[in-house]
Amino acid sequence: MSRTIRIAPSILTADFGHLADQVRAAEAAGVDLMHLDVMDGHFVPPFSFGTEVVAAVRAATSLPIEVHLMVERPGEHFEGFAQAGAETQIFHYEAAGDLERSRALIEQLRALDCAPALAVNPETEVDEFAALIPELVQVTVMTIRPGWGGQTLREDLLPKVTAVRSAAEAASLAGFTVEIDGGVKAHNIAQCVHAGADLLVAGSAVFNDQQTPAEAVAELRAALG
Ligand code: DX5
Ligand code: ZN
Repeated sequence: MSRTIRIAPSILTADFGHLADQVRAAEAAGVDLMHLDVMDGHFVPPFSFGTEVVAAVRAATSLPIEVHLMVERPGEHFEGFAQAGAETQIFHYEAAGDLERSRALIEQLRALDCAPALAVNPETEVDEFAALIPELVQVTVMTIRPGWGGQTLREDLLPKVTAVRSAAEAASLAGFTVEIDGGVKAHNIAQCVHAGADLLVAGSAVFNDQQTPAEAVAELRAALG
């Protein structure tokens, strides 16, 4: 089955002094949406940014925005990110803690008219969260330890991507998105898609010192064939 493959740049390694220009350059390069990594210094050690930066990206582009909330107690922040312009909000299963609390967060997002998506850390097994798949629009499989851009994709986690895709297909969920976040590059993007992903986060692959976003996105698309 062929599905549309989308690329979502993470701005974590972008030049924040020229953020709007960087976002516009990515949009002109033909990316599909923006992936904005919010970190609270607790769920992951670093801080990144909050609603003001999301609103600044919203003002710079008409592309859809997904926020990836690497925060404790994500439900306390959903409303602010919805107001800042995020269409999709990705919370972590590890932050929710269990199925019941995840379901409450999904409901909260639906009430805000945001698409609910779930991120899962490398150590979280599919069996733990599989029951939620029919209630979500997307699962984001972390192929790195979250918190930092520029790490190497862990290929040993690709079977998890395949398992999530199979679970979505078994539940006949048309249009379900399986995203890979962490270490996606031109040399492994085809492998990611082969594993079952249809949305690829690309941070340092798009915003780096060696290429313009246009060159970087063209290289990723070429690698997809
Ligand atoms: C890390 C973030 C990722 C990251 C991606 O915790 O969730 O989105 O910035 O960056 P690369 O593509 O460089 O791994
Ligand atoms: Zn991310």
